[in-house]
Amino acid sequence: MYKNRPDHPGKQMSFSFKRAPASGGLPEPFLKWAGGKRQLLPELMRRIERIETFGRYHEPFVGGGALFFELFRRRAIKAQARLSDNNPNLIVAYEGVKNETDAVIRLLEDHRARHCKEYYYEMRAAHPTSLAAKAARIIYLNRTCFNGLFRENSKGEFNVPFGSYKNPRICHEENLRAVAKALKKAKVEVRSFETVLGRAEPGDLVYFDPPYDPVSETSSFTAYHQGGFGRESQEQLAEVFRALDDKGVKLILSNSATQLVLHLYKGFRVEEVQATRRVSCRGDGRGAVNEALVSNLESPGL
Ligand SMILES: C[S@@+](CC[C@H](N)C(=O)[O-])C[C@H]1O[C@@H](n2cnc3c(N)ncnc32)[C@H](O)[C@@H]1O
Repeated sequence: MYKNRPDHPGKQMSFSFKRAPASGGLPEPFLKWAGGKRQLLPELMRRIERIETFGRYHEPFVGGGALFFELFRRRAIKAQARLSDNNPNLIVAYEGVKNETDAVIRLLEDHRARHCKEYYYEMRAAHPTSLAAKAARIIYLNRTCFNGLFRENSKGEFNVPFGSYKNPRICHEENLRAVAKALKKAKVEVRSFETVLGRAEPGDLVYFDPPYDPVSETSSFTAYHQGGFGRESQEQLAEVFRALDDKGVKLILSNSATQLVLHLYKGFRVEEVQATRRVSCRGDGRGAVNEALVSNLESPGL
């Protein structure tokens, strides 16, 4: 297992979390994302704070990007980060906010002014062509749909019903501008997770937050969009994790603390922490489930 390897050769830039601003504030995730990691941030940060330096930050299952935004707020992103996910709609939303900030805000203001059930379904069926309009549509649907779910049918069409929120926050301009600023320090791409193997260099930091290994047969955690993330994918991910460890990359991963996960990461530091998930397999949509944090980082002295 990776231990005290020489750090990243040239790009290492030192920072200290001790002088970093406290958690909270902007930017924060601009999408509601199943499996979002806000709740787990203190646990993740306690472990990452032990590393004095890292090269690039990589997040190959970026989703809502809670940890990236936290690291940015704490001024820990020094070299251009690599954020990716295999959901093209998600990445379009990131690209739109990053490159077409003003236009996305203007379009979201328009969606906000026209928002009602009928308009929601009209937008759900729409196929805009420009980057800004595509991004604003995704953000609008995400902020107003049932439970902030992201689900598509077999034709790749978004099919989540209207969510009856009293006053959904459709356009948070200040946050979108802060997000755009943070994303200037990142390359955001549609990619499958294993490609991180060819990109991460010794001394870089990778955070893996894959679709959860299901805690029960009926659990729907893996239904992020068409194409699940089954046992084979979990096994492939563990292989990628081991290969990166051999390469001297700093690693942290979160997943449910299932038998499979505990088995796949034997030999690494695995700690179980409690987390309340926003979307869970329980009927009431909430539940305390143990989460496994796997890492090759120095002991946080717990
Ligand atoms: C648990 S979520 C990540 C949540 C994120 N950490 C957050 O704070 O919102 C898992 C993500 O993995 C993505 N995903 C699923 N299969 C993937 C694959 N093969 N490669 C890359 N991303 C994948 C999903 O689209 C989803 O966004």
